[in-house]
Amino acid sequence: GPVPGPPGLLGNPVVYAHRGASAYAPENTLDAVDLAMRLGFDWVENDVQRTKDGELVVVHDDTLSRTTDVEQVFPDRGPWRVRDFTAAEIARLDAGSWFGQEYTGARVPTLREYLDRVQRNQQRLLLEIKKPELYPGIEQQTLKVLDEAGWLDAWHVQQRLVVQSFSADCVRLVHELRPDLVTAFLGTPAVADLPRYARFTDRINPWHTTISAEWVAAVHGLLGAHGRTMEVDTWIVDDATTARKVRAMGVDGIITNAPDVVQEAVGGY
Ligand code: G3P
Ligand code: CA
Repeated sequence: GPVPGPPGLLGNPVVYAHRGASAYAPENTLDAVDLAMRLGFDWVENDVQRTKDGELVVVHDDTLSRTTDVEQVFPDRGPWRVRDFTAAEIARLDAGSWFGQEYTGARVPTLREYLDRVQRNQQRLLLEIKKPELYPGIEQQTLKVLDEAGWLDAWHVQQRLVVQSFSADCVRLVHELRPDLVTAFLGTPAVADLPRYARFTDRINPWHTTISAEWVAAVHGLLGAHGRTMEVDTWIVDDATTARKVRAMGVDGIITNAPDVVQEAVGGY
């Protein structure tokens, strides 16, 4: 069958715009997606959760407080959890003004809206299923939305999409439901445990402070779920010094809020 996986380019790291170009535009908004494109980056990372009425939305925290004006719009609805609000209620929130006045009016996108924008921009998506333990069935539902948006055809699956989670159970389930999809596990398994992960995933995505050249080499020594060398994308690296350090460890990708800074420091695309 096809050999899926994001393409590497002659040893240059893939640069992923984390929550979009979130150093410069409000995270997980369509503005942050568009800005990543204008800066020249096609990979964007996002976080997917579910509303009270079952819509998938793109937002990082499990409450809406930090990144929207929810506490002003719905003062009596604390603790303002994503899962306690309907999609229509969330659509009323301002997800931009906390970041800067020029972004007033930015919204929390639904996953459908987000996929359409990434597609329109000809970008690629590192989709994180966030806190899946809070949202039973979110794996199946995410795949359904991806399918309906045209994101599960061979071209997307082989070139345009990676699904990741901090939950190994979630990553394993996504792999079982759609064995053709490229997945990544977020974390830093012990070297001895890596072969267990290689059975159901292709990439291991660790926090940059937790890794060494030896650990990266251990990941590279394994074939992942699709029979290809496993790869490492590390997060969140926003400064040149750290970017050079993780590059020297041999990482394949760098997930960053400031993709231009990382590219300037270590190249990549
Ligand atoms: O993509 C890696 C990174 O997003 C994981 O942490 O908390 O930013 O979702 P977090
Ligand atoms: Ca994330």
